[in-house]
Amino acid sequence: MTQQKARHVPVLLKDALDFLCVRPEGTYVDCTLGLAGHAEGMMRRLGPDGRLIGFDRDPEALELAMARLVKVAGEMGSQAPQLTLIGEAFSRIEEHLEPASVDGLLADFGASSLQFDEARRGFSFQADGPLDMRMDTRTDTRSGPTAEQVVNEMGERELANLIYEYGEERRSRTVARAIVRGRPVTTTGQLARIVAQAVPPMKYIHPATRTFQALRIFVNQELDEIRALFEAAPKLLKPSARLVVISFHSLEDRIAKDSIREGAQKGIWKILTRKPVTAGEEEIDLNPRSRSAKLRAAEKTATSP
Ligand SMILES: C[S@@+](CC[C@H](N)C(=O)[O-])C[C@H]1O[C@@H](n2cnc3c(N)ncnc32)[C@H](O)[C@@H]1O
Repeated sequence: MTQQKARHVPVLLKDALDFLCVRPEGTYVDCTLGLAGHAEGMMRRLGPDGRLIGFDRDPEALELAMARLVKVAGEMGSQAPQLTLIGEAFSRIEEHLEPASVDGLLADFGASSLQFDEARRGFSFQADGPLDMRMDTRTDTRSGPTAEQVVNEMGERELANLIYEYGEERRSRTVARAIVRGRPVTTTGQLARIVAQAVPPMKYIHPATRTFQALRIFVNQELDEIRALFEAAPKLLKPSARLVVISFHSLEDRIAKDSIREGAQKGIWKILTRKPVTAGEEEIDLNPRSRSAKLRAAEKTATSP
């Protein structure tokens, strides 16, 4: 493990665990294991009759999470809960869990620092690597195209719409035109330079930030994944069980906010966070990634239809 990977810090950890209200004998699911920071916290609150189930569609993340959690299980000895890790997208969660069997479900959306920090994964404009951006790199389940295929094969208009919709980039047409003119685009560094030359410098973020976000969301169908999870969650949770989600940009948070609000109107959810919980100064200082995090929590009502 490199230094950077080792430094990964789970965001809003205490809030997430407190909202989950982990009971030692309960069954809890971490839909986005990543490097298992939240999962370790959940595991340590569980007892020998408890169960932790984790999902990640990135095989590298799953392996690292497994190593970390097996070590924690070793430390906990006979007090360790049962552990099940599943290398699958969380949109398929219903294929793996029984209805009304879960006491708490956590999802910490987006990409992990492991994915951002490894140039070869192609998520970052700060390191030069192949334009990949797939979270799920398994050859047998590679469903979507790589970012390289998208930027080189998609029509200019469609590319502009994608960058506008998923990146909320107002200059999407200019960016798409520059990309099409710069083809073939094969590396993250090349794409970042093309975008930076096409749009004026920005005060707080790299000009390619929004384009990279858009491509990542499209390649991994991230918003559809989140919608599917909000569909599945009420079916999987027991009455009075809890859902906790952490979003990192407005597109994710809008889905979370609207899904919970609509569910509350139908009598499915009791909203636990009228306003999203955000990180305090101290956490932001320690972990700049937490700056944009928004946590929302809901409890399935006892009378949920
Ligand atoms: C922000 S990280 C989670 C970090 C984690 N909470 C921790 O403490 O280390 C998100 C992780 O979720 C995974 N992921 C994202 N979307 C997913 C999906 N739809 N299905 C399964 N895993 C997903 C990513 O591969 C990544 O490893």
